[in-house]
Amino acid sequence: MAAIAAPRLLRAVPIVVLCSLLLHSTQHVLAFKEHEFKKCAQTSFCSRNRNVPQGANFEIIPASISLNTATLTATLLNKPYGKHLQLTLTSHADGFVRLMVDESPSVGRYQVPSDILISGWENKKQGFTENSRTASSITLTTGETKLELNFQPFTLAITVKGQPALQINSRNLFNFEHRRQKQDSDPAGYWEESWGGHTDSKPKGPEALSLDLVFPGFQHVYGIPERATSLSLRATNGAAPYGEPYRLYNLDVFEYLDDHPFGLYGSIPMMLAHKKGLTLGVLWLNSAEMFVDVVKERGQVGSQWVAESGIVDLFVFTAGSPAGVLAAYARLAGPSAMPQLFSLGYHQCRWNYKDEADVKAVDAGFDTHDIPYDVLWLDIEHTNGKRYLTWDSSLFPSPAPMQLDLASRGRRMVTIVDPHVKRDPGYYVFAEAEAAGHYVKNKYNTDFDGWCWPGSSSYLDVTSPAVRQWWAQQFTLDRYSGSTPHLYIWNDMNEPSVFNGPEITMPKDNLHAGGVEHRDTHNLYGVYYHMATAEGLQLRGQQADPQDGDRPFVLSRAFFTGTQRVGPIWTGDNAAQWSHLRVSVPMVLSLGLAGLPNVGADVGGFFGNPDAELLTRWYQLGAYYPFFRGHAHLETQRREPWLFGPEATARIRAAIRTRYSLLPYIYTLFRAANTSGQPILRPLWFEFPEHEELFAVDEEFLAGPAMLVKPVVAPGVGQVEVTLPGGARWYDAATGALVPPAAKTKSHRVQVTLDAIPVYYRGGHIVPRRERPRRSTAAQAADPLTLVVALDEQGGAEGELYMDDGRSFAFQRGGYLHRRFVFRSMKLVSSAQQVPAGGVPEGTLTLPVSIERVVFLGLPPSRRGYKAVVGGSRQAVPLEAGPLSLVAAPGAEAALVLRKPDLPVSHDWEVEIVAV
Ligand code: NOJ
Repeated sequence: MAAIAAPRLLRAVPIVVLCSLLLHSTQHVLAFKEHEFKKCAQTSFCSRNRNVPQGANFEIIPASISLNTATLTATLLNKPYGKHLQLTLTSHADGFVRLMVDESPSVGRYQVPSDILISGWENKKQGFTENSRTASSITLTTGETKLELNFQPFTLAITVKGQPALQINSRNLFNFEHRRQKQDSDPAGYWEESWGGHTDSKPKGPEALSLDLVFPGFQHVYGIPERATSLSLRATNGAAPYGEPYRLYNLDVFEYLDDHPFGLYGSIPMMLAHKKGLTLGVLWLNSAEMFVDVVKERGQVGSQWVAESGIVDLFVFTAGSPAGVLAAYARLAGPSAMPQLFSLGYHQCRWNYKDEADVKAVDAGFDTHDIPYDVLWLDIEHTNGKRYLTWDSSLFPSPAPMQLDLASRGRRMVTIVDPHVKRDPGYYVFAEAEAAGHYVKNKYNTDFDGWCWPGSSSYLDVTSPAVRQWWAQQFTLDRYSGSTPHLYIWNDMNEPSVFNGPEITMPKDNLHAGGVEHRDTHNLYGVYYHMATAEGLQLRGQQADPQDGDRPFVLSRAFFTGTQRVGPIWTGDNAAQWSHLRVSVPMVLSLGLAGLPNVGADVGGFFGNPDAELLTRWYQLGAYYPFFRGHAHLETQRREPWLFGPEATARIRAAIRTRYSLLPYIYTLFRAANTSGQPILRPLWFEFPEHEELFAVDEEFLAGPAMLVKPVVAPGVGQVEVTLPGGARWYDAATGALVPPAAKTKSHRVQVTLDAIPVYYRGGHIVPRRERPRRSTAAQAADPLTLVVALDEQGGAEGELYMDDGRSFAFQRGGYLHRRFVFRSMKLVSSAQQVPAGGVPEGTLTLPVSIERVVFLGLPPSRRGYKAVVGGSRQAVPLEAGPLSLVAAPGAEAALVLRKPDLPVSHDWEVEIVAV
């Protein structure tokens, strides 16, 4: 959320809201207002379940057990109430097992709709083998996973590859509150709960659930974003603020703190546990408010998950490795969408670029200062009175020509479209949606009226497929007036943010399609809105070209499981502070581990004014964020990259150019995310899972498997400590110099200047780059490539390059090329990358792109140097010393470069390196 500035709006706002809005406008004086948000103790379902052992009351009735190939069912008895629950355990060939618990017979408790996951996964089962059954337990195996279900009390112990992996209800914290009749003796909070002047009517009464998950032998758990905290999640039984459980409830949190367990704009109930030899993933697919406690004791991590409503639907990912767990998650929830290439360039945003002249000047500024960028963004002030999909005609009289002008230089525009709809009968979006009954209802079943930027607003009920379909149609060129094919969308405030609602969101007793309470579906609102908007852009693309329309680009603030299939998210309203720069790293890493890799933080910090040093350092880090956008609050000083003097401009230019030079590599990483769910940015342990000393490192990271990045996160720093995992070779990416190899992980003291942050190539990897400075991704399209071949101890290296048209869905029909490069025994070979099982084989896409340089790092010394023999030709070309990169600082004695081999990317080839 953020400050407001529109007096027209203020006149219409009631006093309570006005006060709250004014408070929001005085940034820097006020910080995160904890008291505006509920804690566990102030929340009935959380406080009545947190650490309250009830699990011994739940018993499996042995005679009820039935095992049918890959499905076990049993009746679970809640003894004190004599209440029956149905327990279902299924085994899936895709690397996970599923535990469901619901009331029996069903009372229609809410279950996350199937379209949050991908279709077809349920059919790929893998049978259980029954190992043993006694009066008190049954033991099953499936693949390398063993499950022991104990009856009295109910517990489930899971072993993976012979290692204890997960215990369910071993601490007796399981609970399942069944639907019940109201009793006079019911404690307060069961049937009604008031807080902050709002009363939640709770028509269904108490229906919370508590899951007790212990990870035996693990010290580290990760995930359950979104929050600004460490990567390895701290225990929640510590000193404030870590005495509170982690919360999963999508909220618009004003001025969030940089070290706090509080839940922010999005939620993914996915946790990874990692120890030497084993990684485990758990996803509780439930979209209600949830709290998660973490305790670390007796050499294990315990966790308690409490949700307000819904059912138990727990997926346990048993592939064993970090990559395997995320691949299995992607086979269930879908992999990350393949972005358009332009969207991986740099984005320039501000609340607000004021008018067309401002847009023109900013766009020209990038060219004047020779800084590449791809997208210019317009925030809420571009609209006619916050009526989204309209333009303020005095500020933006000719939106289409403005976009076409940007497009003539290969650039795009993004406009903001929020889910609140101004209640103005003269506004076509409002009137049509109202007539069609497309809005969320209040508890009295009339259209809910909440306050947001435009004042009194209605909220589209995007949980309904019909509403989503209608919303998607609003983005076609004929409906969205002033739009062109070069316009893309930003969805903000979709938690949803309601300024006068409880905790700045919607009342939980609001009603959605089918009479579903908002309580059940709250965390899905954002992903459904995002989905519908992206469907709109896809529809627009299909209208232009039914086969090869453009892939959508929609940025969202709120998210849930499934968002990865739709588009990127950003981490919301951070601040221009070093601590926020620092925490953006674990935030981005946590999201990647929860299956949502396409993310970034506002470069520069949203609130406040960064000085040149902070801004420069942020660009140097941001160049590696999967989503790379500068953004700033309405009341901040202008901060386009050239406004901080020539030195800062040069440094920011270099950082952004570094990003553009790495796009072939980054795009290839996005393909790995798209096919197998792999994160773009990875914690060090993800690539070095046996190195215990790395399990809590979260100030540096790997970009893909091949590059290690150490951001500088404090001012005035002349040297930093860089942790380099042992047993691998590391080459300084600026000079090509080999860091003296070490068998063990070491901390290296490294000198830094303001010019760059430390970045290393990892030996054994090949990184494709595009080095010619250009104004945008479009201008790079035909540019030749450089391959950086960084050798491991054995003198080998491998890498990949994925390319397609960068914009359409043709890649899904084979319109791509995917090369594999291997350097072994002094021979560099390019061949087609093997297509994974079930993948679409590569078609015949030929790109007129060649490899113009091959840079070798770590060739053993040779007195008279090396020469290269390019396959087919008899001619030997000498390798020359440096420069390593055409864009980085000079000084590359350590690199040996093969110049102009002109190797076509589309074909197989070989290059042999021989000592002279
Ligand atoms: C809140 C968003 O987080 C911020 O990025 C945006 O600038 C403002 N809303 C105004 O739209």
